[in-house]
Amino acid sequence: MSSKITISSETSDDQPLLATKQTLGSRMKVRWRRMDNCTRATFSLLFVIICAAIASRIFIEFFSPLDHWPGSRVTIPPDVDRDNDTTQSDEERRDAVKAAMKHAWEGYRQYAFGDDELQPVTNRSNNKWGGWGVTLVDALDTLYIMGLHKEFNQGVTHVVNVDFSKAKDGYTTPFFEMIIRSLAGLLTAYEMSLDRRLLAKAQQIGDVLLPAFDTPTGIPYPRVDVNAKKAVHSDRVCLAEAGTVQLEYWKLSELTGNPAYHEMAQRVVDILDEAEKPYPGLYPIWIDTKSAKLVSGQITFGGQGDSWYEYMLKQYIFSRRSNDQYRRMYEESIDAMKEKMVQRSIYDPQMYYVGDLDSTAKKFSPKYQHLTCFVPGMLALGSKVLDRPDDLELAKNLAYTCFQMYNLTATGLGPEYVLFRDSKDKGLSPSNKDGDDDFAIIKLASSSNTEKKSGFYFGGNRGYILRPETLESLMILYRITGDSMYKEWGWQIFKSIEKWTKTRSAYSAYKDVTSTKGSSELSDSMESFFLAETLKYLYLLFSPAGYYSLDEYVFNTEAHPFKILQSSHSITRH
Ligand SMILES: *[C@@H]1O[C@H](CO)[C@@H](O)[C@H](O)[C@H]1NC(C)=O
Ligand SMILES: *[C@@H]1O[C@H](CO)[C@@H](O)[C@H](O)[C@H]1NC(C)=O
Ligand SMILES: *[C@@H]1O[C@H](CO)[C@@H](O)[C@H](O)[C@H]1NC(C)=O
Repeated sequence: MSSKITISSETSDDQPLLATKQTLGSRMKVRWRRMDNCTRATFSLLFVIICAAIASRIFIEFFSPLDHWPGSRVTIPPDVDRDNDTTQSDEERRDAVKAAMKHAWEGYRQYAFGDDELQPVTNRSNNKWGGWGVTLVDALDTLYIMGLHKEFNQGVTHVVNVDFSKAKDGYTTPFFEMIIRSLAGLLTAYEMSLDRRLLAKAQQIGDVLLPAFDTPTGIPYPRVDVNAKKAVHSDRVCLAEAGTVQLEYWKLSELTGNPAYHEMAQRVVDILDEAEKPYPGLYPIWIDTKSAKLVSGQITFGGQGDSWYEYMLKQYIFSRRSNDQYRRMYEESIDAMKEKMVQRSIYDPQMYYVGDLDSTAKKFSPKYQHLTCFVPGMLALGSKVLDRPDDLELAKNLAYTCFQMYNLTATGLGPEYVLFRDSKDKGLSPSNKDGDDDFAIIKLASSSNTEKKSGFYFGGNRGYILRPETLESLMILYRITGDSMYKEWGWQIFKSIEKWTKTRSAYSAYKDVTSTKGSSELSDSMESFFLAETLKYLYLLFSPAGYYSLDEYVFNTEAHPFKILQSSHSITRH
């Protein structure tokens, strides 16, 4: 924006223009002499203030590395032992990621086209997301971003004929998943291609899911029976499900001109803003749909909590930084998280992590979920947007841990979570699995040398289901710091994905990242987020920072890039 300052120096040697200027100048001199001292003083002061403001703006613009998205400041830190093949350019790496996308899409197209997921080991397909082709819808904007226009058109031709108002018999649609994957995917595919049929389909999804809000409080139910045109009653809904539909409905309001979508979703934010919490800014994950109270469950930046916090920041950015409610809520939550949920490894002081709290915000669980690895990216983005430099330092330390979760396994892939010792002889059981008590701290045997070297130990679930969060954070951190170490880390992870998860038809989830048994560890599953997020963030990591710039786009929690609201007033009712 400040570049406009220089426009006034564009004076040409054009004679007539100069002449007008002189007469204007002499007329102003006359007026200046006629003014009384007080007015002159006021004008002089004003002049000095404006000059100072311009000078400081220029200063910030040139000297603050935080204030521009770089990609230009490329420094290779000495402590990164780079692999033999890093002579490859960004362009070559981008092409390798694009080839991976083509491979996954080709397998899907051949064996599962129009179905929800390809099973990449057996080449079967499944329809566990209602049968509307979630992989196809989720992948559209990635295809577009990578310039795979033929494939994009294959997808569009199919999706414009899908009827989202009819579900398979007996299937009830998960509200949140359908919004973040399919509604968002269609909205961005529309914003990129301007094919209005895609907007019509997005609106159809938005409409068939609206009955979710038909509850005593306006807090949505988690599932909708679209055939019956009503929601499935449920006593409770989790924080992320109720609180990660706002950007999508807001974008839908902007594009259709109908403010009702945004208003319904915003109501949830207003209710939770007011709700009683165990600690300011921290929300237990279960919300009672009848009373709108935060009733129970962990406090977590991992599964079921995560994107609620993410969307505070992202709605603030989406609103062109005009809505202070989101800013206040985000800052309150981040301050509380930093105070109560961040710890570090007792063996590696650089290794910070975000654990979970129980519903009272008193008991701490020393478990770092892969899902929580979006936090470094969120903090880095927030540090830039809200001028919180400390958050960037924390982001770097948290991202380091997320990278080590990959780097310190035998395959170079990262598990669902890792565990840390509370103290030398206490921590969670190494057999801790999803669904177990995450606050059951027990006495542990003394640490192995491997654990001392790694800083953490593994739990009962060591699977990698092709998740994106770590790569998402690396991409954002690279764009914000310009430190190419993040690209090296991302490339190393990509190579492990290629090496261990690639099948003849696509890529598959891997059951145990500490095992090098290879194909027998493949679990025959490829979630749509691998195409929507994992490969997209990798591609953008190796693209110029101006490509889908963080100044112009805000990525939804499924990596669908929304153009930031054109005008903050365009959809409010008057
Ligand atoms: C990469 O490794 C190969 C053998 O593994 C070696 O021949 C080659 O010289 C190495 N290249 C560089 C640039 O170090
Ligand atoms: C799956 O498809 C790939 C690519 O067409 C093929 O090479 C492979 O043999 C197939 N696998 C099975 C189990 O049919
Ligand atoms: C861990 O990182 C180092 C430095 O980047 C690298 O040399 C090493 O190969 C990595 N390990 C794995 C398993 O990828």
